[in-house]
Amino acid sequence: MYIGPQGIVHGTYITLLNAGRLYLDIPADQDLAGVLYVSSGLGGMSGAQAKAVEISGGIGVIAEVDKSRIKTRSEQNWLSLWSDDLDEVFEWVDKHRKSKRAVSIGYHGNIVDVWQYVVDNNIKVELASDQTSCHAAYEGGYTPQGVSFEEGREILKNDREKFKKLVDESLRKQFDLIKTMTERGTHFWDYGNSFMKAVFDAGVKEIAKNNENTKDGFIFPSYVEDIMGPICFDYGYGPFRWVCLSGNHDDLIKTDEAAMSCIDPERRGQDRDNYVWIRDADENDLVVGSEARILYADAAGRATIALKFNELVRKGEIGPIMLGRDHHDTGGTDSPFRETSNIYDGSRITSDMAHQCWAGNAARGMTMCVLSNGGGVGVSKAINGGFGLVLDGSERVDDIIKSAINWDVMGGVARRAWARNPHAIETSIDWNSTVATKGQITLPFIPEEGLIERLVREKLD
Ligand SMILES: NC(=O)c1ccc[n+]([C@@H]2O[C@H](COP(=O)([O-])OP(=O)(O)OC[C@H]3O[C@@H](n4cnc5c(N)ncnc54)[C@H](O)[C@@H]3O)[C@@H](O)[C@H]2O)c1
Repeated sequence: MYIGPQGIVHGTYITLLNAGRLYLDIPADQDLAGVLYVSSGLGGMSGAQAKAVEISGGIGVIAEVDKSRIKTRSEQNWLSLWSDDLDEVFEWVDKHRKSKRAVSIGYHGNIVDVWQYVVDNNIKVELASDQTSCHAAYEGGYTPQGVSFEEGREILKNDREKFKKLVDESLRKQFDLIKTMTERGTHFWDYGNSFMKAVFDAGVKEIAKNNENTKDGFIFPSYVEDIMGPICFDYGYGPFRWVCLSGNHDDLIKTDEAAMSCIDPERRGQDRDNYVWIRDADENDLVVGSEARILYADAAGRATIALKFNELVRKGEIGPIMLGRDHHDTGGTDSPFRETSNIYDGSRITSDMAHQCWAGNAARGMTMCVLSNGGGVGVSKAINGGFGLVLDGSERVDDIIKSAINWDVMGGVARRAWARNPHAIETSIDWNSTVATKGQITLPFIPEEGLIERLVREKLD
């Protein structure tokens, strides 16, 4: 089921477009033309930002201190331009703003220098994030301002205390500059790299909502809680992946066409983005190894595409297909530090969702049922229930698709509805009315504010 970099590029593309929709009111039928996104990191996962910003039509300026990373991303054609001169970088930005052409620009240098430059030159930055490895800032994941990548490594090797001090100073400065820019209208979010926690650890209490500790969260939004959660997961949109077991590229092209024929791009922005993604997938040339693909669809969308694929297998038009998905999805995951971090139904630390997903998928006949520990955020921090399903063209598999895919996706939507997320409640009501004979999602009763507290107080008094 190895799908190479497609998952991360697709996920970043979806995040960027939805951030544009959420913060800049970009209409559902448009992309990020003329919009500037500033971030850092051209490494393992962060490198996807360069390719994704271009696919989403925007202008990306991504800072990277390690030249070898810039070289890799340029050679791969994920990065269109790069420079170590900020004047040149922002001349390119200007040019592309005017022409509204998409471009990814690498800056060889420190992200703090980019923030300083945009503050000093009063440059408009609409969207921004950070993807330095702040989850391991003191171990070398974050290179402090004022030292090159190589100098940073030397200091880390010889004087860890000094390195830590430099990291703290740099993070504090980065925070001040980002804050200035957010006051001027930039929309900044945390990209799951613990940037906000690292800034807090560097001594900035102000980044915590309560100005004291991290108990109530942080002042900037976070990509899963505030962007992917409400716009994708609450509706059931999540990663639908497949691999052509024949290893034949022609099969992949036929599945792309089949998937496109099942998506109505006019239905919602989410459908439009995935239609565009799959339409251009072959051209974007992201296949590494397995003939695999990813897109986001909701429960009905995933089942429709899967049934279509199974029909093609049945007719002998393509070889067998293996379906699967990422843990980064609506259902199946109990990950209180990321995917389920905004699930306020009391269940987010019990891992019941992952177990129910896994056991229910097994009962419904999925080919491979997986219960795993740690996906994405680290062992002991998440439990994931996953699946694989081989489409062999049989009618037996049609039946599994109809029941198991709904189970796999709607369990997560149900839980999000119980957490009172409005889109998930809407989606559950809709699902109840369309599959009335097959099951019902119980809906939350939302009491008036303070009712429970009042009743308890009355009882105790
Ligand atoms: N992309 C996603 O969807 C996603 C999801 C969850 C978490 N993350 C997090 O994002 C972070 C990055 O992941 P990765 O796999 O790309 O890590 P990585 O270490 O491979 O890449 C980070 C890059 O940032 C560069 N860098 C460090 N400090 C810098 C600075 N001050 N200025 C400019 N460049 C700097 C490093 O040289 C490195 O190339 C991790 O913390 C990861 O957990 C990403």
